[in-house]
Amino acid sequence: MGKVTLLLLFVLLAFANAAPRFDCLPEPNGNQGACEARGCIWKEDDTGKNAPWCYFKDGVGYNLDSQQGSTYNLRKNGGPSNPWGADSTEIKLTTKSIGSVLNVKIGIDGRYEPPVDFPRETQSSTESLSLSTSFSNGVFSFSVVRQSTNRKLFDTSIGGLIFSDQFIQIATYLPSENMYGWGENTHQSLRHDFTKYLTWAMFARDQPPNSGSLDTVNLYGVHPYYMILEPDGKAHGVLIINSNAQEVTTAPGPSLIYRTIGGNLDMYFFPGPTPEMVTQQYLKFIGKPFLPAYWALGYQLSRYGYKGLAEMKTRIQAVRDAGIPIDIGVADIDYMQRYKDFTTGDDWAGFSDYVKTMHDWGMKLILIFDPAIEATYPSFQRAIAANAKFIEWETKAQVQTAIQNLYPMAKDTKIMLGVVWPDNHVAFPDFLDSTNNTQNWWINEFVNYQSQVAFDGIWIDMNEPSNFGTNQDHPWYFDSDDHPNDAPLFCPTNGSSPWEMPPYKTRAVWRFGDANSGAFLSSNTLCMLAQQDGGKQRFYNVKNLYGLTEAINTQKALFKATGKRGAVVSRSTYPSAGRYAGHWLGDNTARWEDLRTSVIGAQEFNLFGIPYVGSDVCGFIGTTTEELCLRWQQMGAFHSFFRNHNTIGAPAQDPAVWPSVAAATKKANLFRYQYLPYLFSLHFTASLSGATVIRPVFFEYPTDAETFNLGYEFMWGSRILVAPVIYQGTTSVNAYLPTDRWYSLFDYRYGSIMSPGYATVPAPTTSRIPVFVRGYSVIPRQTPSITTTATRSNPFELLIAPCPLGMGEGTLYWDDGETIVNDFNSYDYHQFDFMYNSTATGGSVTITHSKKSSKISLPTLDIIEIFNYPSAPNFRSFTINGKLVNVNVQRSTYSGITKILYISTEGLVNLSSADSIVLQWSNAGNSMFDISSASSDEVGKMKALNTNRYDELYF
Ligand code: GLC
Repeated sequence: MGKVTLLLLFVLLAFANAAPRFDCLPEPNGNQGACEARGCIWKEDDTGKNAPWCYFKDGVGYNLDSQQGSTYNLRKNGGPSNPWGADSTEIKLTTKSIGSVLNVKIGIDGRYEPPVDFPRETQSSTESLSLSTSFSNGVFSFSVVRQSTNRKLFDTSIGGLIFSDQFIQIATYLPSENMYGWGENTHQSLRHDFTKYLTWAMFARDQPPNSGSLDTVNLYGVHPYYMILEPDGKAHGVLIINSNAQEVTTAPGPSLIYRTIGGNLDMYFFPGPTPEMVTQQYLKFIGKPFLPAYWALGYQLSRYGYKGLAEMKTRIQAVRDAGIPIDIGVADIDYMQRYKDFTTGDDWAGFSDYVKTMHDWGMKLILIFDPAIEATYPSFQRAIAANAKFIEWETKAQVQTAIQNLYPMAKDTKIMLGVVWPDNHVAFPDFLDSTNNTQNWWINEFVNYQSQVAFDGIWIDMNEPSNFGTNQDHPWYFDSDDHPNDAPLFCPTNGSSPWEMPPYKTRAVWRFGDANSGAFLSSNTLCMLAQQDGGKQRFYNVKNLYGLTEAINTQKALFKATGKRGAVVSRSTYPSAGRYAGHWLGDNTARWEDLRTSVIGAQEFNLFGIPYVGSDVCGFIGTTTEELCLRWQQMGAFHSFFRNHNTIGAPAQDPAVWPSVAAATKKANLFRYQYLPYLFSLHFTASLSGATVIRPVFFEYPTDAETFNLGYEFMWGSRILVAPVIYQGTTSVNAYLPTDRWYSLFDYRYGSIMSPGYATVPAPTTSRIPVFVRGYSVIPRQTPSITTTATRSNPFELLIAPCPLGMGEGTLYWDDGETIVNDFNSYDYHQFDFMYNSTATGGSVTITHSKKSSKISLPTLDIIEIFNYPSAPNFRSFTINGKLVNVNVQRSTYSGITKILYISTEGLVNLSSADSIVLQWSNAGNSMFDISSASSDEVGKMKALNTNRYDELYF
């Protein structure tokens, strides 16, 4: 061996052995003395990797005591103990397979388990995972191995396993740096960063995203779930069912350190092998997403701070007058009587009449509801009378009686009163109440209110739950003109309660400092020692489930109140929340950085099983600009949940404010409304079988390294790719197209083949943002109108983007758009599968009616647009199932230059006429539309028609 080789080997070994540092002093203001007092090592990090300076000595972990079948009994070894509580002497590791899913559970029987009701359905996989264990240097470790490649997906030989009552840690090497997921955090890139140590907090909190710089702060929801793309392009997913305050550190190696302060480590490994299969397996396990009402895919206009109904009317009218497709008006807390749920404010007289008008227009109404109920008024009174439960103190002695005694209905109860938007103190419904009293009362409140103001969808906010001013002498609302100085909630933070002040507080606290700087787990929320379900649940454990449990109850309320499926959107989420609700990405700021992180955030929530997701378009906090708002409208038109929302006091930012934004929004929305049958079919598939709707590009190209961190592009399902404009002052996009057949679906070279690789494509503000369609696609669409309701009765269209062999396929799901889906097996819907084929002599479209409804009517299929059609067809040769059909030659065209064949005939195909419909035609050199025999005038006309068809038809 040469010297150089030896040196290299040495360097490699040294690097591989670079011991991981397990943080021994994550608390703020640590120093060497404090570190060494814990028996840990203090050593500055000179690697620039942000490694902890105080870290555990080697040997932390457990011995293998005994093994019975798939149960391993572990005993604390002689290695270092942890400073946050006595290490549990005996713990158990059990493993089992649930279909293709491998479960590894580490913990102690009888400890807290999250009360979540996952269906745990499984799906077979060509791949299987197995557990292997090893024991070296006094440390037991295990790995999860993919059988087909023998790759270790999870490998705890890195050490660091700790189990104590209120501090649990597990660490692993990872098979690749291509890790996605964990939430809810603001990620600056789609893929995680393993170049340095980064600890991400996970504890539901009313915390606006900070997109301005890297910030690992916890936001509204918690998703202990990640996906990894392995070096060979296979993917797996990992879920940890744990609902306590927790955090994850991504570290060089690549490695991962997960910590939580309660429960067990209950881990589920999903084998894939494709990213989309991982998602399917994950969603079958936790529960597939709800199907939004068709209208819920329409455009929504919202704002916080409407002065009254008149202002809401004016802004909606302005948008309608600008000819912008819009379906949904949204009213924020302004509509309420002093911010009390289920009441209507004085400036909102006539609201119910306006809702009728909206309904006549084919529009819908979504209303906000906050969970907290003021302790003064009939809704609260009915709750008490119905024996509904609220989150409570554990003992009467803890109650802040000075507050409690202000409210006769709350006096002498243990209800924990806090402060949110209403003028007086509020109580927080206990959605874990197993008596159903709370649920029934909650449902009734919605039913009653819906009979006054006929809302169609529900927006649930502040459900982390958020509480203003906890533990603060001078909360922000003391300085607000719009809020009385209610005495704030104080939790016993004096150390008397192990729930309130656990030894390990997680990054959710330390991101903000420590107790001296007023940072507690209870900051912005209720006290950790609070109880739910009559004392059966501790808020310390179940806090992260508040949004989920509210969503479960609220979806029931929506169904009961409206009799239709509508849509619920929730700010706080946890795995499985997608079954009941969608999500918006929270109180972003009107900045370009926020536009960018929202492109990433929507992809992440699709991984989490919440595909009905989007951001506050144009930006919530701050004053937006014309250009930012325009670009955000254009991008948001591709997110399932598409809502322009603005904060109180900020200038109006609906698209009608600026002619340029109005024009761009109109154009973007018309495209969206035209492609809604495709978007809806993606949601249908997600609900039926588990799938992403907005999909990271790497999902479709898992061996193309260029896609692994391509967070600013995304796909609609597997067939349409979007490359939005996300930088100020730019009028082009450097878009990446993976190796495949692609066609432009926007103004620039519409319908032409685009070469794979990077290309700078023009995207002026007057153009659609770059959109591409993948070869081998048949995309269902519909002629757009200004509401989804009107659009639904327009004729269907097919866009065909063939592969190089001249073929394509696609699917359309169609239902009545609003019936509640209880069970897809008995649900009434249509499914059509399309096949396209062309040869040198002609072409055909085969339509198979795979699932039929006798009740749901169908518009006819009138338009078929085919890209890259090789030669002129004979328009007189079209047959359907062998019978000649008349094609309207005035409206149908073929251009030998653009190679776009456009077939347009009223009532061309009656989709319910047969189970299998074959539309066929032949090509003819002497066709009347043969480009070679057309005059130059005609050629010009056809070119214009084909390159600019949407503008020509709909503007
Ligand atoms: C919260 C919500 C925001 C809403 C406001 C008033 O900040 O996140 O969307 O407008 O409360 O209800």
